[in-house]
Amino acid sequence: MRTQVGIIGAGPAGLLLSHLLHRQGIESVVLETRGRDQIESTIRAGVLEQNTTDLLIEAGVGERMKAEGAVHHGFELAFEGKRRRIDLTALTGHSITVYAQHEVLKDLVAARVAANGSVFFNVSNTSISGIDTDTPSIRFTHDGAEQTLHCDFVIGCDGSQGISRASIPAARRRDYECVFPFGWFGILVEAPPTSDELIYARHERGFALVSTRSPTVQRMYFQCDPKDSTENWSDDRIWSELHARVDSADGATVTEGRIFQKNIVAMRSYVSSTMQHGRLFLAGDAAHIVPPTGAKGLNLAVSDIRILAKALRAFYAENRTDLLDAYTDTALKRIWRAEHFSYWMTRLMHRLDGVSEFEQRLQVAELEHVTTSHAAALAMAENYVGTSAV
Ligand code: FAD
Ligand code: DHB
Repeated sequence: MRTQVGIIGAGPAGLLLSHLLHRQGIESVVLETRGRDQIESTIRAGVLEQNTTDLLIEAGVGERMKAEGAVHHGFELAFEGKRRRIDLTALTGHSITVYAQHEVLKDLVAARVAANGSVFFNVSNTSISGIDTDTPSIRFTHDGAEQTLHCDFVIGCDGSQGISRASIPAARRRDYECVFPFGWFGILVEAPPTSDELIYARHERGFALVSTRSPTVQRMYFQCDPKDSTENWSDDRIWSELHARVDSADGATVTEGRIFQKNIVAMRSYVSSTMQHGRLFLAGDAAHIVPPTGAKGLNLAVSDIRILAKALRAFYAENRTDLLDAYTDTALKRIWRAEHFSYWMTRLMHRLDGVSEFEQRLQVAELEHVTTSHAAALAMAENYVGTSAV
Protein backbone atom coordinates (compact mmCIF):
# COMPACT_ATOMS: atom_id res chain seq x y z
CA MET A 1 0.00 0.00 0.00
CA ARG A 2 1.29 3.50 -0.77
CA THR A 3 0.30 7.01 0.27
CA GLN A 4 1.97 10.40 0.61
CA VAL A 5 1.60 10.87 4.38
CA GLY A 6 1.25 7.93 6.81
CA ILE A 7 -0.40 9.00 10.08
CA ILE A 8 -0.27 6.90 13.24
CA GLY A 9 -3.18 7.57 15.63
CA ALA A 10 -6.77 8.75 15.07
CA GLY A 11 -6.98 11.22 17.96
CA PRO A 12 -7.65 14.90 17.33
CA ALA A 13 -4.11 15.40 15.93
CA GLY A 14 -4.13 12.51 13.43
CA LEU A 15 -7.68 12.97 12.16
CA LEU A 16 -7.39 16.74 11.83
CA LEU A 17 -4.11 16.43 9.91
CA SER A 18 -5.62 13.87 7.54
CA HIS A 19 -8.62 16.14 6.96
CA LEU A 20 -6.51 19.29 6.34
CA LEU A 21 -4.16 17.40 3.98
CA HIS A 22 -7.16 16.13 1.99
CA ARG A 23 -8.33 19.74 1.58
CA GLN A 24 -4.85 20.59 0.25
CA GLY A 25 -4.95 17.70 -2.24
CA ILE A 26 -2.45 15.57 -0.28
CA GLU A 27 -3.20 11.87 0.28
CA SER A 28 -2.89 10.25 3.69
CA VAL A 29 -3.71 7.01 5.52
CA VAL A 30 -4.54 6.94 9.25
CA LEU A 31 -3.77 3.85 11.37
CA GLU A 32 -5.48 3.50 14.77
CA THR A 33 -5.25 0.72 17.36
CA ARG A 34 -8.68 1.33 18.88
CA GLY A 35 -12.13 0.86 17.32
CA ARG A 36 -14.21 3.72 15.94
CA ASP A 37 -16.83 3.27 18.71
CA GLN A 38 -14.11 3.49 21.35
CA ILE A 39 -12.51 6.70 20.09
CA GLU A 40 -15.94 8.28 19.62
CA SER A 41 -16.98 7.56 23.21
CA THR A 42 -13.86 8.14 25.35
CA ILE A 43 -14.45 11.16 27.60
CA ARG A 44 -11.50 13.56 27.70
CA ALA A 45 -11.12 17.28 27.03
CA GLY A 46 -13.89 19.83 26.90
CA VAL A 47 -12.47 23.32 26.40
CA LEU A 48 -11.62 24.61 22.92
CA GLU A 49 -9.70 27.84 22.38
CA GLN A 50 -10.96 30.24 19.74
CA ASN A 51 -7.84 29.34 17.65
CA THR A 52 -9.13 25.77 17.64
CA THR A 53 -12.77 26.57 16.90
CA ASP A 54 -11.73 29.02 14.14
CA LEU A 55 -9.63 26.31 12.47
CA LEU A 56 -12.40 23.69 12.72
CA ILE A 57 -14.91 26.12 11.19
CA GLU A 58 -12.49 27.19 8.44
CA ALA A 59 -11.86 23.50 7.65
CA GLY A 60 -15.60 22.81 7.26
CA VAL A 61 -15.96 20.58 10.33
CA GLY A 62 -17.42 23.13 12.75
CA GLU A 63 -21.14 23.04 11.97
CA ARG A 64 -22.26 20.79 14.86
CA MET A 65 -19.83 22.50 17.23
CA LYS A 66 -21.36 25.89 16.34
CA ALA A 67 -24.85 24.53 16.98
CA GLU A 68 -24.18 22.44 20.10
CA GLY A 69 -21.05 23.90 21.73
CA ALA A 70 -21.45 26.50 24.48
CA VAL A 71 -19.48 29.74 24.08
CA HIS A 72 -18.13 30.98 27.43
CA HIS A 73 -16.93 34.55 27.91
CA GLY A 74 -15.35 34.01 31.31
CA PHE A 75 -14.76 31.61 34.20
CA GLU A 76 -14.82 31.83 37.97
CA LEU A 77 -12.07 31.34 40.50
CA ALA A 78 -13.33 30.15 43.90
CA PHE A 79 -11.12 30.53 46.98
CA GLU A 80 -11.51 31.42 50.66
CA GLY A 81 -15.32 31.04 50.39
CA LYS A 82 -15.68 33.63 47.62
CA ARG A 83 -15.98 33.57 43.83
CA ARG A 84 -14.30 36.01 41.47
CA ARG A 85 -14.83 36.16 37.71
CA ILE A 86 -12.14 36.34 35.03
CA ASP A 87 -13.87 38.11 32.13
CA LEU A 88 -12.06 36.54 29.17
CA THR A 89 -13.87 38.52 26.47
CA ALA A 90 -13.59 41.92 28.16
CA LEU A 91 -9.89 41.29 28.79
CA THR A 92 -8.85 39.67 25.49
CA GLY A 93 -11.72 39.99 22.99
CA HIS A 94 -11.76 36.19 22.78
CA SER A 95 -13.91 33.41 24.22
CA ILE A 96 -13.69 29.63 24.64
CA THR A 97 -16.14 26.94 23.55
CA VAL A 98 -17.13 23.96 25.68
CA TYR A 99 -17.57 21.07 23.24
CA ALA A 100 -16.39 17.58 24.15
CA GLN A 101 -13.30 16.09 22.49
CA HIS A 102 -15.18 12.94 21.44
CA GLU A 103 -17.72 15.13 19.63
CA VAL A 104 -14.84 16.78 17.71
CA LEU A 105 -13.62 13.27 16.87
CA LYS A 106 -17.08 12.22 15.62
CA ASP A 107 -17.13 15.28 13.31
CA LEU A 108 -13.62 14.54 11.99
CA VAL A 109 -14.29 10.82 11.42
CA ALA A 110 -17.55 11.68 9.61
CA ALA A 111 -15.63 14.10 7.35
CA ARG A 112 -12.94 11.49 6.56
CA VAL A 113 -15.59 8.86 5.80
CA ALA A 114 -17.58 11.30 3.60
CA ALA A 115 -14.40 12.02 1.58
CA ASN A 116 -13.60 8.28 1.23
CA GLY A 117 -10.51 8.87 3.36
CA SER A 118 -8.47 5.85 4.49
CA VAL A 119 -8.74 5.29 8.23
CA PHE A 120 -7.87 1.78 9.46
CA PHE A 121 -9.27 1.11 12.96
CA ASN A 122 -8.29 -1.85 15.19
CA VAL A 123 -4.74 -2.18 13.81
CA SER A 124 -1.98 -3.79 15.89
CA ASN A 125 1.81 -4.33 15.83
CA THR A 126 2.50 -0.87 14.34
CA SER A 127 6.20 -0.27 13.64
CA ILE A 128 8.09 2.38 11.69
CA SER A 129 11.16 1.95 9.48
CA GLY A 130 13.30 3.93 7.06
CA ILE A 131 12.83 7.37 8.66
CA ASP A 132 16.41 8.25 7.70
CA THR A 133 15.52 7.72 4.02
CA ASP A 134 13.05 9.42 1.64
CA THR A 135 10.94 6.27 1.59
CA PRO A 136 9.85 5.47 5.16
CA SER A 137 7.22 2.82 5.85
CA ILE A 138 4.85 1.63 8.56
CA ARG A 139 4.14 -2.05 9.17
CA PHE A 140 0.92 -3.03 10.89
CA THR A 141 -1.56 -5.87 11.25
CA HIS A 142 -5.17 -5.40 10.20
CA ASP A 143 -7.86 -8.10 10.04
CA GLY A 144 -5.19 -10.71 10.77
CA ALA A 145 -3.05 -9.70 7.75
CA GLU A 146 0.36 -8.03 7.99
CA GLN A 147 0.61 -4.96 5.78
CA THR A 148 3.20 -2.33 4.87
CA LEU A 149 2.28 1.30 4.20
CA HIS A 150 4.94 3.04 2.08
CA CYS A 151 4.91 6.83 2.31
CA ASP A 152 6.93 10.05 1.97
CA PHE A 153 6.44 11.06 5.63
CA VAL A 154 5.38 9.36 8.85
CA ILE A 155 3.50 11.54 11.33
CA GLY A 156 3.35 10.17 14.89
CA CYS A 157 0.03 11.32 16.37
CA ASP A 158 -0.23 8.30 18.66
CA GLY A 159 -0.53 10.02 22.03
CA SER A 160 1.57 9.60 25.16
CA GLN A 161 1.56 5.77 25.03
CA GLY A 162 2.32 5.40 21.31
CA ILE A 163 5.33 3.92 19.52
CA SER A 164 6.41 6.87 17.36
CA ARG A 165 8.45 8.85 19.87
CA ALA A 166 10.63 5.84 20.67
CA SER A 167 11.45 5.52 16.95
CA ILE A 168 13.60 8.66 17.25
CA PRO A 169 17.07 7.56 18.42
CA ALA A 170 17.49 8.32 22.14
CA ALA A 171 20.71 10.23 21.43
CA ARG A 172 18.75 12.72 19.28
CA ARG A 173 16.05 13.38 21.87
CA ARG A 174 15.96 15.23 25.15
CA ASP A 175 13.02 14.67 27.51
CA TYR A 176 11.86 17.22 30.09
CA GLU A 177 9.38 15.99 32.68
CA CYS A 178 7.63 16.89 35.93
CA VAL A 179 5.31 14.35 37.59
CA PHE A 180 2.72 15.76 39.99
CA PRO A 181 1.95 13.81 43.19
CA PHE A 182 -1.80 14.20 42.64
CA GLY A 183 -4.42 13.35 40.04
CA TRP A 184 -7.96 14.30 39.05
CA PHE A 185 -11.05 12.32 39.95
CA GLY A 186 -13.55 12.99 37.12
CA ILE A 187 -17.29 12.41 37.13
CA LEU A 188 -20.11 12.78 34.61
CA VAL A 189 -23.40 13.77 36.16
CA GLU A 190 -26.98 13.94 34.93
CA ALA A 191 -27.98 17.37 36.26
CA PRO A 192 -28.54 20.96 35.16
CA PRO A 193 -25.43 23.21 35.21
CA THR A 194 -24.25 24.50 38.59
CA SER A 195 -23.33 27.84 37.01
CA ASP A 196 -23.23 29.52 33.58
CA GLU A 197 -19.44 29.33 33.55
CA LEU A 198 -16.67 26.96 34.68
CA ILE A 199 -15.61 27.22 38.34
CA TYR A 200 -11.98 26.49 39.27
CA ALA A 201 -11.77 26.13 43.06
CA ARG A 202 -8.77 26.23 45.41
CA HIS A 203 -9.46 24.81 48.86
CA GLU A 204 -7.34 23.42 51.74
CA ARG A 205 -8.89 20.01 51.00
CA GLY A 206 -7.71 20.27 47.39
CA PHE A 207 -8.62 21.59 43.95
CA ALA A 208 -12.03 21.13 42.30
CA LEU A 209 -13.42 22.07 38.87
CA VAL A 210 -17.06 22.35 37.86
CA SER A 211 -17.41 22.11 34.08
CA THR A 212 -20.24 21.20 31.77
CA ARG A 213 -21.08 19.13 28.74
CA SER A 214 -24.68 20.08 27.91
CA PRO A 215 -27.77 21.52 29.61
CA THR A 216 -28.41 18.05 31.10
CA VAL A 217 -24.89 16.57 31.57
CA GLN A 218 -22.18 18.07 33.78
CA ARG A 219 -18.45 17.30 34.11
CA MET A 220 -16.73 17.77 37.47
CA TYR A 221 -13.25 17.00 38.77
CA PHE A 222 -11.50 17.09 42.13
CA GLN A 223 -7.90 16.60 43.20
CA CYS A 224 -7.18 13.08 44.48
CA ASP A 225 -4.38 10.60 45.04
CA PRO A 226 -3.51 9.31 41.54
CA LYS A 227 -3.19 5.79 43.00
CA ASP A 228 -6.67 5.90 44.57
CA SER A 229 -9.47 3.76 43.14
CA THR A 230 -12.91 4.96 42.02
CA GLU A 231 -14.33 2.09 44.13
CA ASN A 232 -13.29 3.95 47.29
CA TRP A 233 -15.59 6.82 46.39
CA SER A 234 -19.32 6.43 47.01
CA ASP A 235 -21.58 9.05 45.45
CA ASP A 236 -22.21 10.55 48.91
CA ARG A 237 -18.50 10.87 49.59
CA ILE A 238 -17.96 12.59 46.19
CA TRP A 239 -20.75 15.12 46.79
CA SER A 240 -19.58 15.94 50.27
CA GLU A 241 -16.05 16.58 48.95
CA LEU A 242 -17.31 18.76 46.07
CA HIS A 243 -19.56 20.79 48.40
CA ALA A 244 -16.69 21.32 50.84
CA ARG A 245 -14.36 22.54 48.08
CA VAL A 246 -16.69 24.56 45.82
CA ASP A 247 -19.69 25.92 47.75
CA SER A 248 -19.27 29.58 48.59
CA ALA A 249 -20.04 31.54 51.73
CA ASP A 250 -22.96 33.36 50.02
CA GLY A 251 -24.84 30.04 49.70
CA ALA A 252 -24.01 29.16 46.02
CA THR A 253 -23.78 25.35 45.95
CA VAL A 254 -22.85 22.55 43.52
CA THR A 255 -25.94 21.02 41.87
CA GLU A 256 -26.10 17.26 42.51
CA GLY A 257 -27.44 14.61 40.13
CA ARG A 258 -27.00 10.96 39.11
CA ILE A 259 -23.28 10.16 38.67
CA PHE A 260 -22.92 7.82 35.67
CA GLN A 261 -19.17 7.76 35.13
CA LYS A 262 -16.11 7.96 37.42
CA ASN A 263 -12.42 7.97 36.43
CA ILE A 264 -9.01 8.98 37.80
CA VAL A 265 -6.22 10.55 35.73
CA ALA A 266 -2.60 11.08 36.79
CA MET A 267 -0.97 14.42 36.00
CA ARG A 268 2.39 15.30 34.50
CA SER A 269 4.18 17.83 32.35
CA TYR A 270 6.40 16.48 29.58
CA VAL A 271 8.20 17.81 26.50
CA SER A 272 10.24 15.89 23.92
CA SER A 273 12.82 18.41 22.76
CA THR A 274 12.91 17.24 19.22
CA MET A 275 9.66 16.61 17.42
CA GLN A 276 11.29 15.44 14.20
CA HIS A 277 13.89 12.98 13.00
CA GLY A 278 14.41 12.48 9.26
CA ARG A 279 10.99 11.80 7.74
CA LEU A 280 9.25 11.22 11.11
CA PHE A 281 7.37 14.11 12.77
CA LEU A 282 5.61 13.98 16.17
CA ALA A 283 2.47 15.97 16.98
CA GLY A 284 0.15 16.37 19.99
CA ASP A 285 0.45 14.20 23.10
CA ALA A 286 3.07 12.03 21.32
CA ALA A 287 5.48 14.94 21.82
CA HIS A 288 4.23 16.78 24.89
CA ILE A 289 1.86 16.47 27.85
CA VAL A 290 0.39 19.18 30.07
CA PRO A 291 -1.52 18.75 33.33
CA PRO A 292 -5.21 19.38 32.48
CA THR A 293 -5.63 22.49 34.70
CA GLY A 294 -5.15 25.03 31.90
CA ALA A 295 -7.22 23.01 29.35
CA LYS A 296 -4.36 23.14 26.84
CA GLY A 297 -3.72 19.53 25.67
CA LEU A 298 -6.18 19.27 22.80
CA ASN A 299 -5.55 22.86 21.76
CA LEU A 300 -1.79 22.24 21.57
CA ALA A 301 -2.37 19.16 19.40
CA VAL A 302 -4.40 21.37 17.05
CA SER A 303 -1.72 24.06 16.95
CA ASP A 304 0.99 21.48 16.05
CA ILE A 305 -1.22 20.26 13.21
CA ARG A 306 -1.82 23.77 11.90
CA ILE A 307 1.98 24.22 11.59
CA LEU A 308 2.57 20.76 10.11
CA ALA A 309 -0.24 20.99 7.53
CA LYS A 310 1.18 24.29 6.27
CA ALA A 311 4.72 22.85 6.12
CA LEU A 312 3.56 19.76 4.19
CA ARG A 313 1.67 21.95 1.74
CA ALA A 314 4.83 24.02 1.14
CA PHE A 315 6.69 20.75 0.48
CA TYR A 316 4.20 19.30 -2.00
CA ALA A 317 3.08 22.52 -3.71
CA GLU A 318 6.37 24.43 -3.82
CA ASN A 319 9.03 21.81 -3.19
CA ARG A 320 10.11 23.74 -0.07
CA THR A 321 11.55 22.04 3.02
CA ASP A 322 12.23 25.14 5.12
CA LEU A 323 8.93 24.98 7.03
CA LEU A 324 9.35 21.27 7.71
CA ASP A 325 12.90 21.88 8.92
CA ALA A 326 11.65 24.64 11.25
CA TYR A 327 8.74 22.54 12.61
CA THR A 328 10.24 21.65 16.02
CA ASP A 329 11.37 25.22 16.75
CA THR A 330 8.11 26.78 15.57
CA ALA A 331 5.91 24.38 17.53
CA LEU A 332 8.02 24.39 20.71
CA LYS A 333 7.55 28.13 21.24
CA ARG A 334 3.81 27.71 21.75
CA ILE A 335 4.30 24.40 23.60
CA TRP A 336 6.65 25.86 26.23
CA ARG A 337 4.28 28.82 26.77
CA ALA A 338 1.41 26.37 27.40
CA GLU A 339 3.65 24.15 29.56
CA HIS A 340 4.49 27.12 31.76
CA PHE A 341 0.87 28.28 32.02
CA SER A 342 -0.45 24.78 32.82
CA TYR A 343 2.25 24.23 35.46
CA TRP A 344 1.63 27.70 36.98
CA MET A 345 -2.14 27.23 37.11
CA THR A 346 -1.76 23.71 38.54
CA ARG A 347 0.47 24.95 41.37
CA LEU A 348 -1.77 27.95 41.99
CA MET A 349 -4.95 25.88 42.38
CA HIS A 350 -3.94 22.53 43.95
CA ARG A 351 -3.20 21.51 47.52
CA LEU A 352 0.57 21.07 47.56
CA ASP A 353 1.42 18.57 50.27
CA GLY A 354 4.63 19.22 52.09
CA VAL A 355 4.75 22.96 51.41
CA SER A 356 4.80 25.37 54.36
CA GLU A 357 1.80 27.40 55.52
CA PHE A 358 3.72 30.40 54.27
CA GLU A 359 3.59 29.04 50.72
CA GLN A 360 -0.11 28.22 51.09
CA ARG A 361 -0.75 31.86 52.01
CA LEU A 362 1.22 32.86 48.89
CA GLN A 363 -1.26 30.86 46.77
CA VAL A 364 -4.13 32.87 48.25
CA ALA A 365 -2.21 36.14 47.80
CA GLU A 366 -1.66 35.28 44.14
CA LEU A 367 -5.35 34.44 43.66
CA GLU A 368 -6.26 37.81 45.20
CA HIS A 369 -3.80 39.43 42.78
CA VAL A 370 -5.05 37.75 39.58
CA THR A 371 -8.65 38.56 40.50
CA THR A 372 -8.04 42.23 41.38
CA SER A 373 -5.14 43.44 39.22
CA HIS A 374 -6.03 44.13 35.59
CA ALA A 375 -2.51 43.27 34.45
CA ALA A 376 -2.45 39.93 36.29
CA ALA A 377 -5.99 39.01 35.15
CA LEU A 378 -5.06 39.90 31.57
CA ALA A 379 -1.98 37.65 31.66
CA MET A 380 -4.08 34.73 32.93
CA ALA A 381 -6.86 35.38 30.41
CA GLU A 382 -4.48 35.65 27.43
CA ASN A 383 -2.90 32.35 28.34
CA TYR A 384 -6.26 30.67 28.92
CA VAL A 385 -7.76 31.76 25.58
CA GLY A 386 -4.46 31.10 23.79
CA THR A 387 -3.60 34.58 22.52
CA SER A 388 -0.56 35.37 24.65
CA ALA A 389 2.51 36.40 22.67
CA VAL A 390 5.14 33.74 23.27
P1 FAD B 1 -4.69 11.19 21.62
O1 FAD B 1 -6.03 11.83 21.75
O2 FAD B 1 -4.14 10.44 22.77
O3 FAD B 1 -4.78 10.22 20.35
C1 FAD B 1 -3.78 9.27 20.06
C2 FAD B 1 -4.39 8.09 19.32
O4 FAD B 1 -3.36 7.21 18.90
C3 FAD B 1 -5.32 7.28 20.24
O5 FAD B 1 -6.58 7.15 19.62
C4 FAD B 1 -4.59 5.95 20.39
O6 FAD B 1 -5.47 4.85 20.50
C5 FAD B 1 -3.77 5.88 19.11
N1 FAD B 1 -2.57 5.03 19.20
C6 FAD B 1 -1.74 4.88 20.26
N2 FAD B 1 -0.74 4.03 19.95
C7 FAD B 1 -0.93 3.65 18.67
C8 FAD B 1 -0.22 2.77 17.78
N3 FAD B 1 0.90 2.15 18.19
N4 FAD B 1 -0.70 2.58 16.54
C9 FAD B 1 -1.83 3.23 16.13
N5 FAD B 1 -2.54 4.06 16.93
C10 FAD B 1 -2.10 4.27 18.18
N6 FAD B 1 -7.09 19.21 26.54
C11 FAD B 1 -7.66 20.43 26.26
O7 FAD B 1 -7.21 21.10 25.32
N7 FAD B 1 -8.72 20.93 26.95
C12 FAD B 1 -9.24 20.24 28.00
O8 FAD B 1 -10.24 20.69 28.57
C13 FAD B 1 -8.64 18.98 28.36
N8 FAD B 1 -9.11 18.25 29.38
C14 FAD B 1 -8.62 17.01 29.61
C15 FAD B 1 -9.16 16.27 30.62
C16 FAD B 1 -8.69 14.99 30.87
C17 FAD B 1 -9.32 14.22 32.01
C18 FAD B 1 -7.65 14.43 30.07
C19 FAD B 1 -7.14 13.02 30.30
C20 FAD B 1 -7.09 15.16 29.05
C21 FAD B 1 -7.56 16.45 28.81
N9 FAD B 1 -7.02 17.21 27.80
C22 FAD B 1 -7.56 18.46 27.56
C23 FAD B 1 -5.93 16.69 26.97
C24 FAD B 1 -6.39 16.12 25.62
O9 FAD B 1 -7.39 15.15 25.81
C25 FAD B 1 -5.20 15.52 24.87
O10 FAD B 1 -4.14 16.44 24.88
C26 FAD B 1 -5.56 15.18 23.40
O11 FAD B 1 -6.33 14.01 23.34
C27 FAD B 1 -4.29 14.96 22.53
O12 FAD B 1 -4.65 14.56 21.25
P2 FAD B 1 -3.70 13.61 20.38
O13 FAD B 1 -4.41 13.41 19.07
O14 FAD B 1 -2.33 14.15 20.39
O15 FAD B 1 -3.59 12.24 21.21
C1 DHB C 1 -12.46 20.51 31.31
C2 DHB C 1 -11.20 19.99 31.44
C3 DHB C 1 -10.16 20.81 31.82
O1 DHB C 1 -8.92 20.32 31.94
C4 DHB C 1 -10.38 22.16 32.10
O2 DHB C 1 -9.35 22.94 32.50
C5 DHB C 1 -11.64 22.68 31.95
C6 DHB C 1 -12.69 21.85 31.54
C7 DHB C 1 -13.57 19.63 30.89
O3 DHB C 1 -13.32 18.43 30.69
O4 DHB C 1 -14.71 20.10 30.76
